[in-house]
Amino acid sequence: MKHKGRFGSFGGFYVPEVLIPALEEIEAAFDTYVADPQFLADLNDLYSNYAGRPTPLYFARRFSAQVGFKVYVKREDLLHGGAHKVNNTLGQGLLAKYMGKTKLIAETGAGQHGLATAMIGALFGMETKIFMGATDVARQNVNVHKMKLCGAEVVPVSGGTGTLKDAINDALRYWISHVQDTFYLFGTAGGPHPYPSIVRHFQTPIGREARRQCLDALGRLPDLVCACVGGGSNAIGIFSGFIDDRDVRLVGVEGAGRGLDTHEHCATLAKGSVGVLHGAQTYVLQDENGQIHETECISAGLDYPGVGPEHAWLKDSGRAQYVTADDESVLDVFHLFTRTEGIIPALESSHALAWLASQKGKLPPETIAVVNLSGRGDKDVSIVEDRMQARRGAND
Ligand SMILES: Cc1ncc(COP(=O)(O)O)c(C=O)c1O
Repeated sequence: MKHKGRFGSFGGFYVPEVLIPALEEIEAAFDTYVADPQFLADLNDLYSNYAGRPTPLYFARRFSAQVGFKVYVKREDLLHGGAHKVNNTLGQGLLAKYMGKTKLIAETGAGQHGLATAMIGALFGMETKIFMGATDVARQNVNVHKMKLCGAEVVPVSGGTGTLKDAINDALRYWISHVQDTFYLFGTAGGPHPYPSIVRHFQTPIGREARRQCLDALGRLPDLVCACVGGGSNAIGIFSGFIDDRDVRLVGVEGAGRGLDTHEHCATLAKGSVGVLHGAQTYVLQDENGQIHETECISAGLDYPGVGPEHAWLKDSGRAQYVTADDESVLDVFHLFTRTEGIIPALESSHALAWLASQKGKLPPETIAVVNLSGRGDKDVSIVEDRMQARRGAND
């Protein structure tokens, strides 16, 4: 695996020796099954009949009128489980099954990847353990209940800030002593090789469908494609359909939290520097000694001080542009989008909508923007309510 898994100078697999055989085994299985007709038939059947693919591309007419240009929404929120995460868990879960593994582990932030893994554990009858930061267990507890209902064990992680980074640390630590029968089902397009490539692959239906849907419905490609970026899986999924179309602008939106001039944000590409986190060389939020900064932002799924290595490369090569949206603008657009479209967006996806809303008056009215609505916001309703109460309190 010496030169594989590199995106420019980013990527690689900086992991303890003991994990190398496990990663090589996953890479070999992926290379074998990715072109296997039976595997593909099984996966496509699950994508259609279990997850609900293809998802619609919907013209958000009233939201478009508010922002002053045309916004089309790729409805990944309509997938089973409520987010794009199931695309990846079906792919990796099926891979684990074909490899003869009997146990799954995963990390989760917002709980969407944990839930999508728990669903697949139930579907394939595999013992499933989900590592989740204690802060996230508290703020995304609806998903914790759902994971348990699917039969998964949820392991709260209290180290660090009790968020995604800490959950990944503990999942990797656990995997080291259970590599024989356990498949680590990684949730985003980050981590050590081969995960960034595998996760990207299983998320490519988003971009492939969106491109075809644009051509069918509009007779042309969009001017820009926009998605939120945590580790980067939904963004790379939709970007992948348009990367070779040089005229389509690609915009990834990170969480600016309470502001980029504080440390309370998760804008890794905007404010980070090159380092190594969770087995990959990438942009990282760190101090001058390489100590990882604690992050904070309104959405658990973006609360991560690293980012997938392909995004680091897309940033440096200039092919994609990375911007930020802060908590307050996310709250505003969460309400605006819900009231204009009757669709409650996940707080993660609301970052992409918030950046689009910030472009009002800056983009010409004929602009066609496609936004990836990575998930639905049911899990976020009480967070939004608490934050709105705090806002009202501050204004009193
Ligand atoms: C709905 C939703 N969107 C986006 C993300 C961010 O992850 P990624 O950047 O891998 O798409 C998450 C993570 O939990 C999520 O739940």
